[in-house]
Order: sequence, then C-alpha cells, then structure tokens
Amino acid sequence: MQAIQDVVSRRNIDSLLRASPPPPPHTQPKHASGIGSKGNKFRAPSGRARRLGSRMSLPSHAPTAAAPFNGVLIRRLFGLAWRYRLHCLQVLGIQLALLTMGIVGLSFTGLGIDYIRHKMDGTPLAANQLHLSLPADWPPLHVLGLIAGLILVLALGRALLNYTYAISINVLVQQKLVVDLRGEVYEKLQRLSFRFFDANSTGSIITRVTGDVQAVRMFVDQVLMQSVIMVISLTVYVIYMASLHPGLTLACLATTPVLWLMSAWFSRKIQPEYAHNRTLVERMVQTLAESIQGIAVTKGFGREAEDRAKFEAANQACFDQQRGIFWRLSLFTPAIGFLTRINIMVLLGYGGWLVAHNRLPFGTGLIVFAGLLEQFSGQINNVVNIVNSVQQSLIGARRVFEILDAPVEVKSAPAAVRRPRLAGEVRFENVSFTYDGAEAVVREIDLTVQPGQCVAILGATGAGKSVLMSLIPRFFDPTSGRLLIDGIDARQLNLDDLRRNIGLVFQESFLFSNTVAANIAFGHPEATSAQIEKAARIAAAHDFILGLPKGYDTVLGESGNTLSGGQRQRLAIARAVLLEPPILLLDDPTAAIDSETEHEIFEALDRAIAGRTTFIVAHRLSTLRRADFIIVMEDGRIVQRGTHEQLMKADGPYLRVANLQLVDGRELQQLKLKGGAA
Ligand SMILES: Nc1ncnc2c1ncn2[C@@H]1O[C@H](COP(=O)(O)OP(=O)(O)O)[C@@H](O)[C@H]1O
Ligand SMILES: [Mg+2]
Repeated sequence: MQAIQDVVSRRNIDSLLRASPPPPPHTQPKHASGIGSKGNKFRAPSGRARRLGSRMSLPSHAPTAAAPFNGVLIRRLFGLAWRYRLHCLQVLGIQLALLTMGIVGLSFTGLGIDYIRHKMDGTPLAANQLHLSLPADWPPLHVLGLIAGLILVLALGRALLNYTYAISINVLVQQKLVVDLRGEVYEKLQRLSFRFFDANSTGSIITRVTGDVQAVRMFVDQVLMQSVIMVISLTVYVIYMASLHPGLTLACLATTPVLWLMSAWFSRKIQPEYAHNRTLVERMVQTLAESIQGIAVTKGFGREAEDRAKFEAANQACFDQQRGIFWRLSLFTPAIGFLTRINIMVLLGYGGWLVAHNRLPFGTGLIVFAGLLEQFSGQINNVVNIVNSVQQSLIGARRVFEILDAPVEVKSAPAAVRRPRLAGEVRFENVSFTYDGAEAVVREIDLTVQPGQCVAILGATGAGKSVLMSLIPRFFDPTSGRLLIDGIDARQLNLDDLRRNIGLVFQESFLFSNTVAANIAFGHPEATSAQIEKAARIAAAHDFILGLPKGYDTVLGESGNTLSGGQRQRLAIARAVLLEPPILLLDDPTAAIDSETEHEIFEALDRAIAGRTTFIVAHRLSTLRRADFIIVMEDGRIVQRGTHEQLMKADGPYLRVANLQLVDGRELQQLKLKGGAA
C-alpha cells in the first residue's frame, strides 16, 4: 500500500514545492548524458556549463589563435624530450653510425669504379677522400673482391643498426614517452574538479588522452629526432661534397633555398587545417560516445537511422577535411621531389664536363657525388614529413598541455590539517555558491548539524539540494561563506582525510565492471573481506550477494547492468559505509527505484544512518519523519526548518507535501478497496 502511495505523491511534490513558476527552459535541470557523468547526480548537465562559457572549458581550436604560442609550445616539447635525453642520445648515436657507414660504403663503391677504370684504360687513381691505398701487388680480381666484401660487411652492419634503431626509437616513444604522458594526463584528470568535466565533453577528453598524446610522441620521434638527424646528415653531405668540388656543390644546391621557402609556406598553410581536423575528430568521438551512452533511448524511440545519419555526417566531415589535407600534401611532395631532380640535371651537365676535362675523378668524384646528392634529396624530401608532423604534433601537444595546465580548483591547502577521523559536525556559515558567477544556486545557507544527527532535505527539482550536499566533500568550494567540519574550515582540511570521512550514495549508482567485493571496497581497496561482508550486511546486501553465481567474486557487467536497481543501490550503500564514515550523504538514493524495491533498502538505510551525521534528500513522509530535523529548500534557500512535528503545525510547503501524501494515501486505499471488492 505504502508503495503505491509513494508513486502518486512524488508526482505531485515538485509542483507543490515549486513556489515560483518553473524556470525558463534553458535553466531547467536536465540529465547529463556524458559517459563520465553517469554515477554522479550531484552534478548537472554537461552541456550547461559550456553554454555558460565556464572558464574551465577547454578552448576549441581557433586556427588563428594558434600561431603566436608556437615558440612557448616548442620549448615545452623540448623540455619533455630532455627528460629522455639519454635515450635520445643513444638513438642519435645509432643514426650517426648509420650515416658514417653509408658514406664509407659510397666511397668504396667509387673507389671500386675508379680501380676498374684504372685497370682498363690506365686512368691514374686519384687521391680519395678516405685516403685509402689499395694493395698494388694483389691480382685485380682480389682487390675488387676485397672492396666488394667491405661493401657487403658495411651493408650488413647497416642492416643490423637499422634494426636496433627501429627498436630503440620504439622503446623511447611508445613504451616510455607515450605511457608516461598518458599517465600524467590521466592523473591530472583525476584531480580536476567536476566543473572541468561539466565544461568538457567526454569526446574531447578521450581524444586528448588517446590521439593527442600520440601527436606529442610524433613531435619527439618525427620532428625532433628527424630534424637533428636531417641537420647532421645535410651538414656532413655538404662538407663531403664541398671537399670533392666546391663549385659543383654550389651549382647543385642552388635550388635548396627555394625548397626551404616552399616548406615554410606550406607549413603555415597546413597548420589551421590540422587544428580544424582535431576538432572534427573530437566531434565524431563525442557523437559516438553519446550514441553508445544513449543506445537504449535511441532504440526505444526507433531513432537508429537518425543516429546513424548523425554519425555518418560527423565521419564524413572528418573524411572530407582529411582529404583536403591529403590533397595538398600530395601536391607538395612531388613538387619538392621535382625540385631535387633539377640538382641531378645540373650534376650530369656540369659534373660530366668536369670529368671529361679530368678535373674530377669519375668514381670517387662524380659517382660519389651523385650518391651524396641522392641522399641529400632524400633528406630534403624528409622535410615534407617533418613539416607535416610539426603541425600535427603542435596542435596535439597544445591540446594535451591544456589538460595538464588546467587549474586544479579544489586541492588540499599546503599546510592542510590532518584529521584521519572526524567527529562529523557540519556547519554552513552564510554559504552561497554559483556556477557561473551570476546566479547563485545555493544562497546564504546557515545550518549546523551535530555529530550523529540526521537532517532530511526536501525541495523541488533544481532547488539546490544536490549542490548543497556536494559542497561537503568539496566537489565545489562555496563562492562565499564558510563550511566548517568539526569546527575546521573544509578548505583547511586535508582533502583525502575529508573525503575518506564521507560516504556517498547517489540517485543512481555507478558500479564498475569488477567483482562485487571490489565494488564495495572501491574507495578502500585495502579493506578486508570481513569488513566488506560487514558493510554488505549493514546494507542488507549480504543475502542477495550470496545468491549470485560466485558470491562476492561475481564479476558485474558493465556499470553493474546485471543487477536490479535495488540491488545496485544496496551495493552502493555498502560501498559508502564500508569504513564507517562519520558523515553520510544520501542524495535521493531511492529515486531510481520502483516503490516495491524501495522497501528492500529502507532497512539498509536505517542501519547505515544510525550514529552518523547524515544528509538525506527524501520525499517520503516516512523518511522525513525519522530525521532529527528537516530543511525545506526553494531556489537555493532554506525556507523552512524543524522537526516533522513542528513543520506539520506550520502553514508552509512542508505541510502541503505532507497533506498531499496523506490524501493520496487515503484515496488510494479507497480505490484499492473498491478494486478489491469488484
Ligand atoms: N553543473 C552545473 N552547471 C550549472 N548549473 C548547475 C549545474 N548543476 C546544477 N546546476 C543548477 O543548480 C541548481 C540546483 O541544482 P541541484 O542542486 O542539482 O538541484 P536539486 O535540488 O534537484 O538536486 C539548478 O538550478 C541547476 O540548474
Ligand atoms: Mg539533485
């Protein structure tokens, strides 16, 4: 009977408690839809703060704003690479060895050719760059065999070194840098306040932790390392070529400045494209995240086709934009390639003339030169990759650093007071709180709750009940006024101590895909199985847990889907009371549960509340009546307070709600009697 009564009453409570007309649509609270928001009904919708232009919201990347900060960004990235300097040096060392071996191999080839010419038509052997002298008394084939053997050994050595290089750079970037950086970003995310998660979409955060971290890696291996390698190689090539013939070197490299100019121009063109690309990818991930989150709603309303179209549009936008980038890139690469071919033309003309006039040896001169120029062009082509990677990695890096730099609003004070065990006195002193700096959602609250007292909060949706409670564990800090716990300003208390002294149960509880025991012990992994069982007994969960296939070791499906609402809430209560916290916050824990099941957890709640300072958001008279006192909230203010008996005597919102429940109850009883008689 009681159960049916509740269904009827709750429907009307909101309208009764709402003194003023309902707020305009844009201030109406609505349910959050982001992945991260599921378990936390203290927070409101993720879209809201974005609209309010919260200062916690990460910028979406306006291409024009990006340019001026590149210097700072690059310096930071260098700083990051500096942490791995030893490993970087090792990788560079390998590259240097490869470079040397390549050049020596090339010289051997030239030497071999000159030797063949010498034996065939008596052309004198020129003094070569390596100052090698061939054994004059060996038969020619033996000499050639020696040269070929040396080239082979060098080639083998290079193959081995290339292999080492590939492994070494992979260890550096994928196993060290990316893992460390991802860990750092994740750790930071754990410390950021709810305001941050309200202001930033799940999609944006996920792309930053996954894709953008890879972009930072790209800076280290494809920009930094490649640039250093390129500069060293180019220098060595130029010096070697100049030592062969300065004039020919100058002539061949005349096109190089054009290449640099083109690269610089291309780089500037392509950067905004990459910035835009990240935003589009972010949007696509967000669409995906939302559609997974809301799959039940989508299917329920038969909107799969629209959903698919929405995702396809986001996907297509990414694709189109990426095609634009690809198109430019495909033009740029051959253009650079073409320019470097001009060098070979010059070499054949001018170099050939030099050889014909005996001013340059053929093998150790022209052939080696051609080889060097080929390598040089290869490195220049690399510029395209580097330029391309620079832009991509800078955009990604900026987005990663934005998370790393986001201000941690709520943190322990430097000399925070340690209180491993609080008594549980909670005092609000003229506390107000606002999300956007304009409209307070909690106003001028003065309230003292003695240790062990239970205070029930009654109020319409959006009255500020959840926000008020979220100030206690410092999910937010009051905008003005003070919150004192055991007489100490909450901001002065060690944050871990404070939160470990508080147990929380939300309207709907998020359970992790883990065992029942691990879910109960979530906040305190060190808890013993005896403690876990005790908590489960308090929460009236022990019996149903034993009924599960593997008892406490049963692994729950994603977000605990395999349990009923009542069971989930009882696990949540067990989780909250595990370490017997002196303060307990219950935000309408029976809201998402049908009234039949509701009864299952009342006994649990009663036991959980006993002896703890408890704040409970409740609508049922039976719960309200049990509280030591009740506060009624309206528009962020406390409009009524007192015990059930006192409030029943005063004309006000409490009496209206109570009467409605009583009337509903009687009417229902009559209806039921009639129904039963018929
Ligand atoms: N993350 C948020 N950003 C901006 N406004 C919020 C946010 N969360 C709640 N609000 C606003 O604060 C007010 C109080 O919300 P809340 O405490 O959740 O109400 P309830 O009493 O239903 O628990 C509401 O007007 C709501 O719109
Ligand atoms: Mg609420």
